[in-house]
Amino acid sequence: MEEHMNLLTTVLERYGADPEALVEILRDLSQETGYVSQELLVAVADRLQLPRSHVHSVASFYSMISVEPRGRHTVQMCQDAPCHVAGGREVWQALEETLGIHFGETTPDGEWTLQVTSCLGLCSVGPVITIDGEVFGNMTHAKVQELLGRYRGCCCGGSQGGAA
Ligand code: FES
Repeated sequence: MEEHMNLLTTVLERYGADPEALVEILRDLSQETGYVSQELLVAVADRLQLPRSHVHSVASFYSMISVEPRGRHTVQMCQDAPCHVAGGREVWQALEETLGIHFGETTPDGEWTLQVTSCLGLCSVGPVITIDGEVFGNMTHAKVQELLGRYRGCCCGGSQGGAA
């Protein structure tokens, strides 16, 4: 925990401990620690002199900020209408079936976390997912299985995809 508090000090200095930079501060903490624990949320609120409830609600709102431990790989799926119309339901089911978990969950082996996200601005190549931040478009059931298989078979993340 002391390590996380030292990181908090570093991140706060990065943004001049400005409460207006709350989202960026929480994002950086999430990226650098894997997730923002309850203790860290309280510390952020105290250091920025913001209500704890506000800090918690901001952290919970943004999909780029995690308040729960994530798997080694994070899959996010766009849940907005254009992707849904383009076949998102099939892709949604393929992700849940292939990983054996529901959205919002992490596999028991700690490898995969499934999350939803809102429009990524790539509606023309929907349905769209991201794996560890890399975007993949025109997703289908078969492409989900192929992509996840590629990641499972490669310790470096296996990212060779792209939006098209
Ligand atoms: S609606 Fe999915 S990327 Fe825009």
